[in-house]
Amino acid sequence: MTRTPALALNDTLNLVPFVSVDHMMKLVHAIGLERFLTELADYIEEDFRRWELFDKTPRVASHSAEGVIELMPTSDGAAYGFKYVNGHPKNSREGRQTVTAFGVLADVATGYPLMLSEMTMLTALRTAAVSAVAAKHLAPKGARVMAIIGNGAQCEFQALAFKAVCGIDTVRLHDIDPAATAKSARNLAGSGLRVVRCSTPQAAIEGAQIITTCTADKQYATILTDNMVGAGVHINAIGGDCPGKTELHRDILLRSDIFVEYPPQTRIEGEIQQLDPRHPVAELWQVIAGKVAGRKGAAQITLFDSVGFATEDFSALRYVRDQLAATGHYADLDLLADPDDPRDLYGMLMRAA
Ligand SMILES: NC(=O)c1ccc[n+]([C@@H]2O[C@H](COP(=O)([O-])OP(=O)(O)OC[C@H]3O[C@@H](n4cnc5c(N)ncnc54)[C@H](O)[C@@H]3O)[C@@H](O)[C@H]2O)c1
Repeated sequence: MTRTPALALNDTLNLVPFVSVDHMMKLVHAIGLERFLTELADYIEEDFRRWELFDKTPRVASHSAEGVIELMPTSDGAAYGFKYVNGHPKNSREGRQTVTAFGVLADVATGYPLMLSEMTMLTALRTAAVSAVAAKHLAPKGARVMAIIGNGAQCEFQALAFKAVCGIDTVRLHDIDPAATAKSARNLAGSGLRVVRCSTPQAAIEGAQIITTCTADKQYATILTDNMVGAGVHINAIGGDCPGKTELHRDILLRSDIFVEYPPQTRIEGEIQQLDPRHPVAELWQVIAGKVAGRKGAAQITLFDSVGFATEDFSALRYVRDQLAATGHYADLDLLADPDDPRDLYGMLMRAA
């Protein structure tokens, strides 16, 4: 039996393409990081344009004192995807990642998985690509300088996506831990970006048209206060993504035009959890689809209150799967029991004795 030809990578029903961390890294290098980010941004934008088609629900979160474990499902009617992802700010102090993830893309017609993939790398890539897509539509025209506050795992991906998609040429880095800033500066040397290390957040945002906050703290934090944010900037706030976990002072939100991914999820998890639940926000997909204006003037403060939404992971999985046949960067995983007679699962088990 063969799968739908358009979806098949092999003709054996039990085997599912598996993209390991090693495969993902090889895939990124084979394609080139900036090209990968740019093409991924195109897939993300394409799926935002067909937003209304998707099955949408706020992610299913299981909170603990230390962090959160979440499932993020969605479907466009032809394919179904979900991501397992955690967020544990204390992890990095113990030598673990704050965020790890894996995900599945499946065929809606049969329910069979089409791909199982690592998504820790892919989440960093997709989060950066989404941020850059939002900034492409919201940031001041000609923006060249971005401040990045929080120089952990996401930082370099953000910097390079903004370079590739938005034409940023300078990043101004700040972290409460100077070792994190030193690591990011080292990694970005030779990237073509001018990298400026800053000892305070105030210094980092000086002259920046875009401010990215990507800190990790499981509490209401104030990375930016109102007096730090001048007119005309675009804020890309990605670290406030859980109930009780925010980065911006509330007054900044009141001065900004706020753009979100999926309001029912962002009202729970984003910076706007600090505001009245009826506070007006615009949806990013509407800006991308030309239904709502993005940036209207030079003095406007635009805020992308990013929390990460399931369709973005779906786009990322879709992009990766489209690269597999040509690059071969996957392994076949014996994931599905496939008896010759579909009803004889028991017979298959007994024959294996
Ligand atoms: N919106 C999304 O789609 C999305 C996706 C992935 C991660 N995230 C979030 O982005 C954040 C960053 O993720 P990461 O994987 O880079 O985490 P990380 O732990 O690797 O890095 C976080 C960095 O923030 C720094 N930091 C903490 N408090 C700070 C402060 N007050 N001022 C300056 N720096 C400070 C830490 O020293 C650390 O270097 C996390 O909160 C994560 O949950 C959001």
